[in-house]
Amino acid sequence: MLLSPQRAFRGIILCIVSLNVYRTLAVSNSTTPPTNLPPAIPSVFTVEASIIIDAPIDTVWTILLDFPKYPDWNPFVRSQVVTDDFYIPTQDQKVAENLRLIITSQIPPLTPPVTASSLGNPLDEHITRENITHYQPEIYRVAWQDLSLDALIQAERWSALSVFVDQSGDVMTFYESREQYNGVLADTVQDLEGAGLVEGFQAQAATLKARAEAQ
Ligand SMILES: *[C@@H]1O[C@H](CO)[C@@H](O)[C@H](O)[C@H]1NC(C)=O
Ligand SMILES: *[C@@H]1O[C@H](CO)[C@@H](O)[C@H](O)[C@H]1NC(C)=O
Repeated sequence: MLLSPQRAFRGIILCIVSLNVYRTLAVSNSTTPPTNLPPAIPSVFTVEASIIIDAPIDTVWTILLDFPKYPDWNPFVRSQVVTDDFYIPTQDQKVAENLRLIITSQIPPLTPPVTASSLGNPLDEHITRENITHYQPEIYRVAWQDLSLDALIQAERWSALSVFVDQSGDVMTFYESREQYNGVLADTVQDLEGAGLVEGFQAQAATLKARAEAQ
C-alpha cells in the first residue's frame, strides 16, 4: 500500500523479519497451523496477521477474492477494484495475474463492523495502484505488489489459506496475510504507518473470520 511520508507520526513498531520455513498445503493436526505463505524475503519491515476461521476453505476463499463486496465488511481495505493495465475496471472483476488493482485503504482501519455506507476518514485514506503478481487458486494463495512508488518502495502483500484440524478434530481454515517492505522509503513508511498497518491487517483478519463464520 502507498504510505504518504507526510502523514503524522503514528508510532514505531517492531516487526520480526524472519525466514519462514516453507510448507506445502496439507491437513495438519497440531495447535499451531503450518504456514501456507511462501518463504519470507529479507525486508526492512514486515506486517502480518493470521487467524483460524471455523468455516470451509472455499467459503473463505470466495469472500477473500470477492473484491466488489469489500466495502460491505472490510474496515481496512475499503475498496479494491480489478482493472486492466490502463486502470480501467474489468467487467467481471475476476482475479488474474498481471491485472491491476486500485486499492483504497484506511490506515489505521475503521472500527468494525462496517458497511458500504460507513464513512472513511479522508486524512487516513490511501490509494494505491498494484499489480496482481501471483494467483494460485489450487493452493489458495494470491499476491499483489504496489506499483505506485516503484523506485522508492517495494511492497508485496501475500494472502494464503490452508486447512487445519484443531485438537478436537474440527476442520478449520487458517488465514494468513503478510506484506514486506523494502526500498529507501521503507523506514519512513514503518515510522509513519507501521502501527496503523498492523491494526489494519488484524482488523481485516477478524472481520473476514466474522463474515465467513456467519455464512
Ligand atoms: C505483474 O505481474 C505479472 C505476473 O507476476 C508479471 O509478469 C508482470 O511483469 C507484472 N507487471 C508489472 C508492471 O509489474
Ligand atoms: C486430530 O487430533 C484429534 C485429537 O487427538 C483427533 O481426534 C482427530 O481425529 C485428529 N484429526 C486428524 C485429521 O488426524
